[in-house]
Amino acid sequence: MCGIVAYVGPKDAAPILLEGLQRLEYRGYDSAGLAVVNGKSLKMRKVKGRVADLAEAVPARFKGACGIGHTRWATHGVPSDVNAHPHLDGEGRIAVVHNGIIENADALRQRLEGEGVTFESETDTEVLCHLIARTVKETDSLDDAVRRALKSVVGTYGIAVVDAQRPGEIVVARNGSPIVLGIGEKEMFAASDVAALVRYTRQVVHLEDGELAVLRADGFHTFTSDARETAKEPFTVDWDTGHYDNGGYEHYLLKEISEQPDTVARTLRGRIDDRFHIAHLGGLNMDARETRSFRRVKIIGCGSAYYSGQIGAQLIEELARIPADAEPASEFRYRNPVVEPDTLYVAISQSGETYDTLAAVQELKRKGGRVLGIVNTVGSAIARECDGGLYLHAGPEVSVASTKAFTSTAVSFALLALHLARVRDLSPADGRRICEGLRRLPEQIEQILKLDEQIKTLAEKYAQAPSMMFVGRVRGYPVAREGAQKLKEISYVHAEAYPASELKHGPLALINPDMPTVAIVPDDELLDKNLTTLGEIRARSGRILMIGHRTADAADDCVVVPKNETELDPILLTIPLQLFAYHAAVALGRDVDRPRNLAKSVTVE
Ligand code: F6R
Repeated sequence: MCGIVAYVGPKDAAPILLEGLQRLEYRGYDSAGLAVVNGKSLKMRKVKGRVADLAEAVPARFKGACGIGHTRWATHGVPSDVNAHPHLDGEGRIAVVHNGIIENADALRQRLEGEGVTFESETDTEVLCHLIARTVKETDSLDDAVRRALKSVVGTYGIAVVDAQRPGEIVVARNGSPIVLGIGEKEMFAASDVAALVRYTRQVVHLEDGELAVLRADGFHTFTSDARETAKEPFTVDWDTGHYDNGGYEHYLLKEISEQPDTVARTLRGRIDDRFHIAHLGGLNMDARETRSFRRVKIIGCGSAYYSGQIGAQLIEELARIPADAEPASEFRYRNPVVEPDTLYVAISQSGETYDTLAAVQELKRKGGRVLGIVNTVGSAIARECDGGLYLHAGPEVSVASTKAFTSTAVSFALLALHLARVRDLSPADGRRICEGLRRLPEQIEQILKLDEQIKTLAEKYAQAPSMMFVGRVRGYPVAREGAQKLKEISYVHAEAYPASELKHGPLALINPDMPTVAIVPDDELLDKNLTTLGEIRARSGRILMIGHRTADAADDCVVVPKNETELDPILLTIPLQLFAYHAAVALGRDVDRPRNLAKSVTVE
């Protein structure tokens, strides 16, 4: 969740590190720090607070052409100046920044203390630093010292290390927490996220788990934890700094919600075939025979990615008539899942680095499962691990809460469902209906965005409620779950999502004038059932905000969105809920893009 940046080259490292850290601030943000090597001495500054506070703490003359920086999201030890990274050994020779969690930190700390090491902080990272500092004295090379020190470590890490005795050299290592190298002109960069690199270079190399790299101004080399050299092929990132700007919007979240007509169009581009009414998905790496052979689809992802997977499962079941279901990857990986040869597994991730999802994919692969990835970040760990898949092409998502990646994932599932369906029983006429529906989505999202003022007024009205219920039936249920998720994570208003049909089996007891309900009521075959549910809520004096394709007397307020094909409607019904959560959060004065306790990509267990 934290951010790492490293630089070695001809320029002063500090301004480059600070700029990179600013780009990573969305990942973790309770403290920040940097260290540079100048001559044979290390200089370090770190503060509790934002990168802007760190920039103020760094003196104008902070020379050094080799350095490492970090933004922290506390795991071991409270946010404080002392617990911020980098961490130094007692002699001020080795500096380390670290993402991830060292599971055996306590045992290692005791051992080191027994050997006379004094610790300054409560962090697991400082343990790493002392381990490396002790090993470097036994060997003449920093990379060897890091490699050997890591052998005694259990846990996850992405690290960057400098040694005052070796100016001009940085060692990085990855195990479960991303590290990307950036290749410049006679300079090298490393970061936990390409966001920190794109201002300087678009040529990048991803490290694999268990891999290390040595960076010098004139290049890099990579090797495994057994000291075997590895060969890496750089690739070009097509996101640039413009993608990371807020584009004049007050918040990234609003920018990302507003981008959806474009991002959905990009997800669809070149993937709809009007001759056969099929989807072109070359990245799946499966021929028609193989595509026909699956008898089940299992979808895994975390949080909003999981909810978009629920929409996906329904699309696949409805269109392709293959049994499909979605499960949180975080649960799936721990329950020793039965992996079947005729099941197609689909992993979803915006970041492509969510540790729980990655671990689930690795478990599946180990058991011989066939895994596709629906991923936004090109070249990310999950994308690399999967057998094939679809990229969202939604551009980087900066705000912590997922919006455009959610809709693009649901759209990708519509394409995948169409693909699976048209090699089975879906007729050309129905294929055409879905293709035309998909093409209408960007324009219809545009129309929904025009409801912004109405939704803002409603959000301000309902935001004062201590708690809200979100309900939907079948296709509406994952929409309700995502609506509740958005509201709670950015406005901190307690929100529960329930299948509308389950209400009378328990949660109806909660309904009263202080617990309004957001009801997802599409014009589908379940409309009458949903209207009955509204009547039941109304009879308990519950206030109702209905999101659907018409107004209803039982509802206090209605947001009417354009109708698409019934199977695709959930995608559109999600958009008003994003705006609702956004305006509720603004009305309550929340930090919309950086909600408390959360970070953008959860690369720890
Ligand atoms: C919610 C949200 C999270 C993520 C989840 C998975 O708005 O952003 O629930 O969806 O942490 O993240 P990715 O998609 O990066 O794997």
